[in-house]
Amino acid sequence: MEFKLVAEDKGSKARAGVVTTDHGSIETPIFMPVGTAGTVKAVHQRELHNDVQAQIILGNTYHLYLRPGLDVIEGAGGLHRFNGWDKPILTDSGGYQVYSLSGTRKIKEEGVTFKSHIDGSKHVFTPENVMDIQRTIGADIIMAFDECTPYPCEYGYARESMEMTHRWLKRCCDRFDATEGKYGYSQTLFPIVQGSTFKDLRIKSAETIASFEREGNAIGGLSVGEPHEMMYEQTEVVCDILPKDKPRYLMGVGTPENILECIALGVDMFDCVMPTRNARNGMLFTSEGIINIRNEKWKNDYSPIDPNLGGYVDTFYSKAYLRHLVVSKEILAAQIASIHNLTFYLWLVKEARKEIRKGTFINWKNQMVKKVTRRL
Ligand code: GUN
Repeated sequence: MEFKLVAEDKGSKARAGVVTTDHGSIETPIFMPVGTAGTVKAVHQRELHNDVQAQIILGNTYHLYLRPGLDVIEGAGGLHRFNGWDKPILTDSGGYQVYSLSGTRKIKEEGVTFKSHIDGSKHVFTPENVMDIQRTIGADIIMAFDECTPYPCEYGYARESMEMTHRWLKRCCDRFDATEGKYGYSQTLFPIVQGSTFKDLRIKSAETIASFEREGNAIGGLSVGEPHEMMYEQTEVVCDILPKDKPRYLMGVGTPENILECIALGVDMFDCVMPTRNARNGMLFTSEGIINIRNEKWKNDYSPIDPNLGGYVDTFYSKAYLRHLVVSKEILAAQIASIHNLTFYLWLVKEARKEIRKGTFINWKNQMVKKVTRRL
């Protein structure tokens, strides 16, 4: 993997760059649609390419390991072959899903014992087997096994957890470096900064993670219920320490506003279930503001969903039609709304890249934040 910085904003810490993998390039800042179980919910791969114009998607180790299982993915020749997505893929390590999804779990130095949310069966994730599992899934970018602390979190717990995440990182790197990709292309491992909402811990964690000198770095443990200002504060502290010449990935963030603010702090990569999950509940993010499409006020609004994006569904379908589909619980509602929200997120980061290159990012960002937070 390679990362080239192509522009730096003068009025903020925003940067534009290009990440190159064996499955193609990713322009940053980028938003990565979440495809938990090897599918971005309700969105066809062809629509992801053509309409959404996604450059990289996510998969989850926890889900794919439990179902369909590694034998099925390996039999297909890896996740790219299995799901037909031939552009870059990133997999999260399970270090988040184990805590948020599996009912009972035991965290020890060796690893985490957990019960499947699907059938209650018992499993163990260790830094070593999570590297092996992600080798088999075959994503281009794989994540270190970490513990994502909840919010609020006591200082003592946050410190001990962070220190364990650092020890786990050493084990992840040792295993990753001692093994090879199974499918003939290269993979890279991103470590994850933790430290909850404590500045001294975040500094320590960012310094430790940077010292491993991997090809990219991630920031975890944020957007877990803390106030936005606190998230921005910790993100800034960490970005100022992580190396400039490597991509920075802020995990699980966020709203359009969060993404714009964190681009200004120097973040390059984002992922979040929000555009797809909220789409399924009738919440649309648009270039003019937020729409609850169930609302009576859209009943006779025959204007396109969002003609500013230049996307197919946004120009072709009206708000009134989409409202009708949502209210009637039609399957097409989830499809159109998900494609729309993702198209908007990808449009937003594309505009951000343009503005960074032009040197006009900060003014544009301030205007845009006002627009995208408006309730229509
Ligand atoms: N997704 C959102 N936050 C996190 C985190 O802290 N760790 C991992 N592994 N995934 C995440």
